[in-house]
Amino acid sequence: MRSLFICLILAFSIPSITNACFFTPEWKIYIINGTPDNIIMHVRSKDDDLGKHNVPSNGYYDWSFCDRFDGTTTFDAEFWWGQTYDCLEVFSKLARRKCDRFGFRVQYCYWLLRSDGFYISPLNVSFPDPLWVFTKPWGSGGTLCSMHIVSNKS
Ligand SMILES: *[C@@H]1O[C@H](CO)[C@@H](O)[C@H](O)[C@H]1NC(C)=O
Repeated sequence: MRSLFICLILAFSIPSITNACFFTPEWKIYIINGTPDNIIMHVRSKDDDLGKHNVPSNGYYDWSFCDRFDGTTTFDAEFWWGQTYDCLEVFSKLARRKCDRFGFRVQYCYWLLRSDGFYISPLNVSFPDPLWVFTKPWGSGGTLCSMHIVSNKS
């Protein structure tokens, strides 16, 4: 009886130790500032505004969330790098395609912002590396964002 009780406690506590999301994967997203300057980053979805953050050179901004059942979670980000402004869908179909490791309960996705543009990788390997896929240069994404902001709640 006592071992059954311990089993039950373990069974219920394991998901909360390993992953805060019960039925869908947890995603952890990192946006690394690989430029020599500060970058102001502002990440949001329809439901969550994560606020503006001033990220120093070689610093990063990160957040995590539980994926939606229907897989439509989207996060947009705006960036101010000196006089240069840009925005990007930091989590959408593209990030899912590049970073999803089938069956993993916790998924990781890394963005690297360099002076020549935006790179994405499923692992934080040192740059350059074939895992870092160039996505776009600075200043090219004005219309990509804001209009696509969708709910990230199930
Ligand atoms: C990425 O890797 C670099 C070099 O190993 C390390 O300094 C940095 O802290 C890592 N960043 C993240 C977000 O894991």
